[in-house]
Amino acid sequence: MRTSTAPRALTHRRSSPLETNLLSTPLHFGFFSSFQPPAWHAGTDRTFGEDWHNGGYHSWLAKRVEDAGFDFLFFEDTSGVSRVLGGNTDMDLRYVLSAPKNDPVALITYLAAKTSRLGLIATGSTSLYPPFLLARLYATIDNLSGGRVGWNIVTSSEDEAAQNYGLDALPPTNERYAIADEFMDVVNKLWDSWEPGAVVKDLENNVYTDPTKVHAIDHVGEHFKVRGPLNSYPSPQKKPLFAQAGGSPRGREFAARHAELIMSVTIGGVEAMKEFREDIHARMRAVGRDPREARILYALHPYIFESPAARRAAITDAQLVPVLGKHGAHLGIDLLTFDLEKPLPLDLEVNGTTSMFESLKEKARRGISLREAIIDFHWGDDALGTTGPAKDVARNLVDAMEEVGGDGYIFMATQDANGEVIDGLIDELVPELKRIGAMRTDFPGSTFRENLFSF
Ligand SMILES: Cc1cc2nc3c(=O)[nH]c(=O)nc-3n(C[C@H](O)[C@H](O)[C@H](O)COP(=O)(O)O)c2cc1C
Repeated sequence: MRTSTAPRALTHRRSSPLETNLLSTPLHFGFFSSFQPPAWHAGTDRTFGEDWHNGGYHSWLAKRVEDAGFDFLFFEDTSGVSRVLGGNTDMDLRYVLSAPKNDPVALITYLAAKTSRLGLIATGSTSLYPPFLLARLYATIDNLSGGRVGWNIVTSSEDEAAQNYGLDALPPTNERYAIADEFMDVVNKLWDSWEPGAVVKDLENNVYTDPTKVHAIDHVGEHFKVRGPLNSYPSPQKKPLFAQAGGSPRGREFAARHAELIMSVTIGGVEAMKEFREDIHARMRAVGRDPREARILYALHPYIFESPAARRAAITDAQLVPVLGKHGAHLGIDLLTFDLEKPLPLDLEVNGTTSMFESLKEKARRGISLREAIIDFHWGDDALGTTGPAKDVARNLVDAMEEVGGDGYIFMATQDANGEVIDGLIDELVPELKRIGAMRTDFPGSTFRENLFSF
């Protein structure tokens, strides 16, 4: 599966006592996005990113991210207008939660033509795609992009999405992952159905493809029946780079078995991040894989700001509106009707107890305002110290990775209303990361997989 087998240190030790600020091995960095408008409600002039639906905004973003030297740009996906909030689609549509959202697979095809070195990951669901369609689609984009495509493998989690594909509901988690395992078996067989060197372009004998090197797969399983072979041209990477972010034990097992890029969150700080990495490595060994066959990256929201307190103070009411709408709908109450500067009323009841409601109520008991309570809940407590001046954030990112032994980060800027968050990350944090040797300054390989495994 890996094309580069160069050994890689699993931890990032400082190179020598004289160069205490320099890392011997850089980290890997990705950038998280969604084929949606950027934080529309919080924008001051509301025109930033308004060309998102026709690829304009994400072309700009892809160029920024590529020029900065990130390994990849990542697109999450879901496929439905959600009714989870309040039992109808109102909140979802008013606050741009899961809709509108265009298809990221089409978007990365477009971005492949706008970029030349950046890895491009689009999410595709094993519960919703037929395996042949997915195998052919990603092989085609790998051809179009010159070997830069990645597939974020999800099993989906919304019944609304399943109902758009002829199902009443998604199967339970364990069954979804069992289907996903068989799905992986099928698509791997399809991508392997053309032996290396099958395309001969033999002028003398007038043969384009050697028929003895292309094979039917004749897969008949519990969930899929696929004859094969694949009918697309063998692509530079042969298979897309496999990315996955399953958090449940079954999701971790799936990632350990199949993924080359494994993503997790930083909730719980360094200890939880370390536990995740060790658990994934143990699971990889248990299925006969070398832990070096996967990169583990952690997703987080760094903010370049003069101080965490200044950042907190800069969160506007406009930014809070969709956040209050979304969390209120989860609780079944309209949080927008309460005074932001006062604690929530202590006698407030919701239908069913949730951990979020307990957290808000506990803050209310201590006299903390709804504004402060919801900021804490939504933006988190910044366990790694990644809000502040670029120098501090870069150092904290590196220190956390040294403790965790991980491979890098995926930056999220989903609250970026006007482009300032992205500017801070790319114009201030990236140069600082490069200065201390934590980010590479060029793309060493020609394919996404080569770049991710070149060190
Ligand atoms: C960086 C990152 C990106 C994710 N992208 C998606 C996505 O595009 N679509 C999706 O349905 N879930 C996405 N998830 C959620 C996970 O795929 C997964 O469903 C979740 O972590 C729950 O784990 P489980 O499926 O093992 O229960 C993402 C999670 C992370 C951390």
